Amino acid sequence: MAREPVAAFAPGRINLIGEHTDYNGGLALPFAIAEGVTVRATATGGRRIEARALDVGEDDSFELASPRRDASGWRAFVRGIAAELAAAELPLAGARLEITGTVPQGAGLSSSAALEVAVALALLELAGAAPPDGRTLAGLCSRAENEWVGAHTGLLDQLASIFGRRDAALRIDFRSLEIEPVALELGGWRWVILDSGERHALAGSGYNQRRAECARACEALGIASLRDAEPGRAGALPSPLAERAEHVIAENERVERMVTALRTRDLAEAGRLLDASHASLRDLYEVSTPAVEAAVDRLCRAGAAGARVVGGGFGGSVLGLLAPGVRAPAGARMLTPGPGARLLAQR
Ligand code: GLA
Repeated sequence: MAREPVAAFAPGRINLIGEHTDYNGGLALPFAIAEGVTVRATATGGRRIEARALDVGEDDSFELASPRRDASGWRAFVRGIAAELAAAELPLAGARLEITGTVPQGAGLSSSAALEVAVALALLELAGAAPPDGRTLAGLCSRAENEWVGAHTGLLDQLASIFGRRDAALRIDFRSLEIEPVALELGGWRWVILDSGERHALAGSGYNQRRAECARACEALGIASLRDAEPGRAGALPSPLAERAEHVIAENERVERMVTALRTRDLAEAGRLLDASHASLRDLYEVSTPAVEAAVDRLCRAGAAGARVVGGGFGGSVLGLLAPGVRAPAGARMLTPGPGARLLAQR
């Protein structure tokens, strides 16, 4: 058995570019942020999980062997992780969990993946088990979200949270699951995030509908994934499948161009790519909202080189890129990459 109590931390993420590409076998370029979720776990000797979300003062309690599916919100994530660990035949022990977070919920910064990964790492450590490799762990956490929360999300958030590194973004290829660090040498330029103020919950938004539309587009094109789509043929699909496919195809190309822009320190080009991504997410993928547009406008009026909605959309946050000397609008926060999920030393 592990020393106890144990604690694990998993970060949220920001995605620089490559939105709604993960579940289409495409490319994305996220980095883990400093904010995240911490889970402290104490063994209770029983076969139940007693969980407490300290920030909201809420509790949950369920049987390890058979958590019931009648929970929503943060409880569904915790139950889903316990159930998926059990389904993977990983050891589990009865525990009391204390959960705290510094990443706002529904702000497009992946508080969900941070919660999933931190709960999984804490439960495994408490049971004295080594975690599975990062890609397997990401898949397990994503299944909890898909099947217990009902959000049919891809692997972007979990991979970013698990593989995050200081001073680098991660170019992720979701077809091969290859992950390549891309150094961020910004020379005084800054990534900032501005909250639109509108909360989103992916399970209830148009997110699942977008994913289903991409699946229909693939079926009509006779391909397994939109990564294999030929640009010319996608345009012949009926609306809105054509628009969805066109977004995904062009967004994958923008990821490659962003990697080149960062490697050649062409930050003005990086800004233009953010704008192009946003226009596509707004007009072709249709995941923007008036509150998101207002936040994009505020960043642009402040002089951002580019700005775009991040994460699933339908609310959440906007990412902007500011040149040296440009003042961020009130409420904007600077983001820097941080290390991925880890166990914390206990005092
Ligand atoms: C959410 C999902 C991810 C990804 C993004 C859009 O963050 O959890 O899997 O699909 O939206 O890029």
